[in-house]
Amino acid sequence: MITIRDANEADLPAIVDIYNQSIPSGRATADTRPVSVTDRVEWFRQFDPARRPIWVAEDEGRVVGCVYLTWFYHARPAYDKTAEISTYVATDYQRKGVGTLLKTKMIEACPRLGVENVISMYFDHNEPTEKVNQRLGFKVVGHLPEIADVFGISPEEVQAAVDDIAEHEDEVWEVHRQIEERNALGNPSDVEGKLAQARAKRLAWLAEKQKEHSLEACRVGNRA
Ligand SMILES: CC(C)(COP(=O)(O)OP(=O)(O)OC[C@H]1O[C@@H](n2cnc3c(N)ncnc32)[C@H](O)[C@@H]1OP(=O)(O)O)[C@@H](O)C(=O)NCCC(=O)NCCS
Repeated sequence: MITIRDANEADLPAIVDIYNQSIPSGRATADTRPVSVTDRVEWFRQFDPARRPIWVAEDEGRVVGCVYLTWFYHARPAYDKTAEISTYVATDYQRKGVGTLLKTKMIEACPRLGVENVISMYFDHNEPTEKVNQRLGFKVVGHLPEIADVFGISPEEVQAAVDDIAEHEDEVWEVHRQIEERNALGNPSDVEGKLAQARAKRLAWLAEKQKEHSLEACRVGNRA
């Protein structure tokens, strides 16, 4: 059974590990390299259970996720009633409702934390976060195009990849038919090269989307 509790410093290695698991996908965070526990000690000590908590989800003694609220926009005092929310779930525990549970509980706690608005910033291609936010009544209030290069791909490289794919568009879309044919006939054909092109197309799409952030807000007590 999943239980949720305030995190303590002994949880930091697990929290860091879960965070690092999310980096290679290129869609969870703008960090591009793993962080260390040492990097995060000061960060961790800034949380305050009464105003800006960090909680962990535990299953049979194992930390499987975390959620936290951070001060908004340099913590300037007029923004005290607004916080940014972040949620991370261990890769092997995703899609089991843990992220929704953590975020729901944190939003429910907002009135006693003095928080009236919850902000969620995520890359446009972060489909799981989009889904969870929709479920919890977040509304898109802004969009920040061209603000990130998660994989460090330049616009020129992306354009070159897109042009290359456009040239081979027919072949790329042929891939599905060929896979079906191969499966049906047990006949390995030249599918691998075309699969590589399909992957390149997906990469180019990701490279475009990951430059953009959606900015979503949830006004506590006034959700759909
Ligand atoms: C975002 C995150 C916290 C959600 O946690 P979770 O425990 O997997 O969330 P839930 O199981 O409650 O719900 C996830 C939803 O996204 C859907 N989903 C998961 N992967 C998906 C994908 N690749 N494409 C589309 N939908 C996806 C799930 O099906 C589920 O929706 P459903 O319940 O309608 O089926 C988790 O994916 C995560 O830790 N990701 C990496 C870190 C991250 O991106 N954090 C947010 C930073 S802003």
